[in-house]
Amino acid sequence: MRRVPVWALKPGMIVEKPVYDLKGRLLLNRGLELKKDYIHHLKRMDIPFIYIQDDFIPDVRVEDVILDETRARAVNAVRTILEEAQRQPPGSGLGLVLEQKKFGEIVDDIVDQLLDNPELMVNMADIRSSDTYTFAHSVNVAVLALTGAIARGGFNRRQLKQIGSGSLLHDLGKIKVPLEILNKKGPLTREEFARVQEHPEEGYSMVSRQGILDGPSAEIILQHHERNDGNGYPHNRTEEEINPLAKMVAIADVYDALTSDRPYRKGFPPHRALEIMETMGDIFDPDMLQALLNHIAAYPVGTFVELSSGEAGIVVKNWVGLPRHPRVRVFFVGEEMTRVEPFEIDLKGQENRLVDRVLPEEEIIKLIPEVFPLSRGGGGEKWMQEKRK
Ligand SMILES: [Fe+2]
Ligand SMILES: [Fe+2]
Repeated sequence: MRRVPVWALKPGMIVEKPVYDLKGRLLLNRGLELKKDYIHHLKRMDIPFIYIQDDFIPDVRVEDVILDETRARAVNAVRTILEEAQRQPPGSGLGLVLEQKKFGEIVDDIVDQLLDNPELMVNMADIRSSDTYTFAHSVNVAVLALTGAIARGGFNRRQLKQIGSGSLLHDLGKIKVPLEILNKKGPLTREEFARVQEHPEEGYSMVSRQGILDGPSAEIILQHHERNDGNGYPHNRTEEEINPLAKMVAIADVYDALTSDRPYRKGFPPHRALEIMETMGDIFDPDMLQALLNHIAAYPVGTFVELSSGEAGIVVKNWVGLPRHPRVRVFFVGEEMTRVEPFEIDLKGQENRLVDRVLPEEEIIKLIPEVFPLSRGGGGEKWMQEKRK
């Protein structure tokens, strides 16, 4: 399984992770063979990458930490709520639009699936387009905040549910911010920034007015941009004054924002985002930060990496607590990148051998144009067959 940018997709490649549309409807199912017009459609939808089955590691399968279908349902629920809220005339509440029962069930499902997950290692990015950004972001913040909360421990089920509901709606207030500001390519003016900074209070008053979310969930919406050092907004609260649930969501929110493509910059790859986050122990709760970072793979399974010792290959496994020390199946060695019989190196417990860099797609294509056509019938599959003999 490998994450491939849409520009590099070719007909014949097999879809590994299903792709859903804005409304949560299945577009491309797992196992589907890509055709030219599917690829066009993905480009039209502005989807940046998908996951395809890969001949390098056909025996390795990675699952998202929650079911794809649950994620799609959650994205659709958030979309419905935000769009309905936008249609409401100013001053009125959200009313019936919050199909509260359905919303509660989705939160329950997400919490259950994460609690049941024995490893809880984030190895995949969700597939989102610019149209679905806010909704997909909201769902991913919920998944990450809950992952961090479960990993740290000390939160009961009721609190986990509050984290789930609060984070799904944490950016609700952004529907009041003009899209020209939210999607602006250049830096924001002081006035524009002030407008954006109103979204926590906007969202808080929207859910409170209607009694839609109870105390801590609503506080998550209000406080998710507060920082321990008092330099957050809207109220410059300090460490003791911020709800712990909101602290967890704040960490997840920043990680997701760093790794997402935005109109004004490309998203950082996980290893870079983790590096940036590691320096944020002053503004975030250090234990919560560490708990989440321990469960996010710096080099997700399927990433093509070069090791400090010169070997290059694909990440096949990650270890909780050691996000930078994956197990790598090596395909190339030495400066000349000589193809070798694949073997595995586990960086777990190795001090002197590290991941040196992530190979960009352009380099992978150059390195393996024919050896691995990256579709069914490529070299990797042959290797697996030979290995089985
Ligand atoms: Fe926000
Ligand atoms: Fe956010």
